[in-house]
Amino acid sequence: MIGRHRHCLALEDFSRAEILEVLDLATSMKEVLRRPIKKVPSLRGKTVVNLFFEASTRTRSSFEIAAKVLSADALNWTASGSSVTKGETLLDTARNLEAMRPDVLVIRHAAGGAPRLVADHVACAVVSAGDGAHEHPTQGLLDAFTIRERLGTLEGKTVAVVGDVSHSRVARSDLHAFRRLGAKVRFCGPPTMMPAGADRLGAEVHHDLRTALEGADAVVMLRIQHERIGDPLIPGTREYSRHWGLDARKARAWLAPGAIVLHPGPINRGVELSPDVADGERSVILDQVQNGVAVRMAILYLLAGGEPAEARA
Ligand code: NCD
Repeated sequence: MIGRHRHCLALEDFSRAEILEVLDLATSMKEVLRRPIKKVPSLRGKTVVNLFFEASTRTRSSFEIAAKVLSADALNWTASGSSVTKGETLLDTARNLEAMRPDVLVIRHAAGGAPRLVADHVACAVVSAGDGAHEHPTQGLLDAFTIRERLGTLEGKTVAVVGDVSHSRVARSDLHAFRRLGAKVRFCGPPTMMPAGADRLGAEVHHDLRTALEGADAVVMLRIQHERIGDPLIPGTREYSRHWGLDARKARAWLAPGAIVLHPGPINRGVELSPDVADGERSVILDQVQNGVAVRMAILYLLAGGEPAEARA
């Protein structure tokens, strides 16, 4: 359990205390990752099934490594090559995999709400690894972890989330996590990529990158989610990059000296982020990847019911 939750589906449902429970445990988990022998027996005999209906590099391997460091067995399932191509439904697929008695099902799906639908029909714990443009809760947690690690706290900080906000599940999970932990969130992007009512969600809405970055302590750059966009929403990527992309010149001129740059990956270099910023000293992008393993270890541990003493052994 994470607080009162048997599943990890959306950060909108998580309280500040529940988010902190994950982040604090992830700090101990990160220490395990620094050991020469990265293995603890906490989830021995438990099984984690990764059910990915959408492409993934970081998230899927991160869940797999997290499970293995905790000694759980991990099974990776991808839609291509499975019976989904023969017409099997999401629920049938999930129920059949569940019949093999996993302890945790990790699901990524193009439809918002798919992990919750599965959670309502299976007995094991379900973790969302991203559902459509809805939420990507573990990304929100690892982003919050990374900012807290670098800046000490999110309390009183300002975080700008820039790009294709309306199609980004990362933007929504970041918003909930950052606000619960006391940060002010600015959404910035072209008007066609800003969800209606973004201000009612609690974000300050900007269309001008310069004002969005002014006084920000951290900035999360987002990829244009081409796979979720029908007709083009912008004149072209060059135009987009000129207005909403971050390069070294803009970073130097508009960002405060200690401000950090995050990106969930995959980066479209030269579109939302120039290589000199992505690989530069403000970038914490590879920290995010490493912290992702620690955060997912904490989540698997809490939901699969390991023993606290063992995890920290
Ligand atoms: C993100 C996703 O899939 O939502 N990637 C990730 O999980 N690290 C962001 C993206 O694809 O742009």
